[in-house]
Amino acid sequence: MRFEGQYKMGYYPTPLSVVERIKSFINFPDTSFSMLDPCCGCGTALQKLAEGTKALTYGIELDEERYKQAKEKLYRVAKGGYEIATISNEAFSVLFLNPPYDFDTSGQRKEKIFLQDTQKYLIKGGLLIYIIPQERLTIDIAKFISYRFTDIKIYRFPEEEYKNFRQIVLFGVKKKNFYINQEDVIKMVNASQKGKDLEELPYSFNYVYSLPPTPKPKIFRSGILDKEELEQSIKNSPLWDKIREYVKIKDNVYKNPPLPLHQGHIGLLLASGYLNGEMDGHLIKGSAVKKTVQTIEEEDDYIVTKEKEIIVVTVKVLTDKGEIFELI
Ligand SMILES: C[S@@+](CC[C@H](N)C(=O)[O-])C[C@H]1O[C@@H](n2cnc3c(N)ncnc32)[C@H](O)[C@@H]1O
Repeated sequence: MRFEGQYKMGYYPTPLSVVERIKSFINFPDTSFSMLDPCCGCGTALQKLAEGTKALTYGIELDEERYKQAKEKLYRVAKGGYEIATISNEAFSVLFLNPPYDFDTSGQRKEKIFLQDTQKYLIKGGLLIYIIPQERLTIDIAKFISYRFTDIKIYRFPEEEYKNFRQIVLFGVKKKNFYINQEDVIKMVNASQKGKDLEELPYSFNYVYSLPPTPKPKIFRSGILDKEELEQSIKNSPLWDKIREYVKIKDNVYKNPPLPLHQGHIGLLLASGYLNGEMDGHLIKGSAVKKTVQTIEEEDDYIVTKEKEIIVVTVKVLTDKGEIFELI
């Protein structure tokens, strides 16, 4: 029942025992490289895959709660659907894809749509790790994969983990030139029909796949604004230095004026709030308020009432004896 509940929400995290076995197939680069999980859940699977390597881990997650958890575990996480994220193509050494096992609103399987839409982020020579229920490796998906990927290996989950959703792990290396390989198509379709006869994912004692290194992706942006992330990136923006430079108050600004200020100057400084604070042992606060002044005049046989608005500078003073009064 617990698994059914998770499944309905499109959430079935890759068991860590499976991640361990997947990892045993991979020779990770000694230099920095990037890995993407475009539906990363709470990020644990990708984090585990990257542990002890020089990977920069990138995730995308639709569910708010899981997104928050993933942010604690991965290098960068984009909030919302992968469909609205902006990401550099061919920027990742690994595409780790365990999509929701579900139909989308148009009746298409999400396993296929997620693969179609996100494979472009994988660099040529990069590794696809595709986790789906065995029977979902349909002929159309097999053709799609065969066209773009080579060195394909398919295993079923280990016994204990296989019970729930009969998942398989498919490895494939992105081709430099795309073409269909009929043998691979047949191999995949057969694998989908083998049930438990498909070989179980082993621990590999030899590396099978060597990853090409990748620089940091130039663009990795969520389609949804995360307030905290926005605040952080504004804080870190190099634009601030420019703004500070423009509005910099030069040291000599506070030099004494050549002539003493007269009452009007002080009034303006008070009204604009420049002198707010302590002054001669009192606390002062200046403000300018709009007031209406009414005058009544007699003109011939009429009485004319005139109103005019004036700006009045007021200063509130709190004395050191605790008295408050207002100067107008
Ligand atoms: C099967 S889980 C896989 C989680 C993780 N990748 C793992 O292997 O442990 C699929 C995840 O995809 C998320 N998801 C569903 N639709 C999505 C979308 N359009 N964009 C990004 N994430 C999505 C779900 O919220 C869920 O967390």
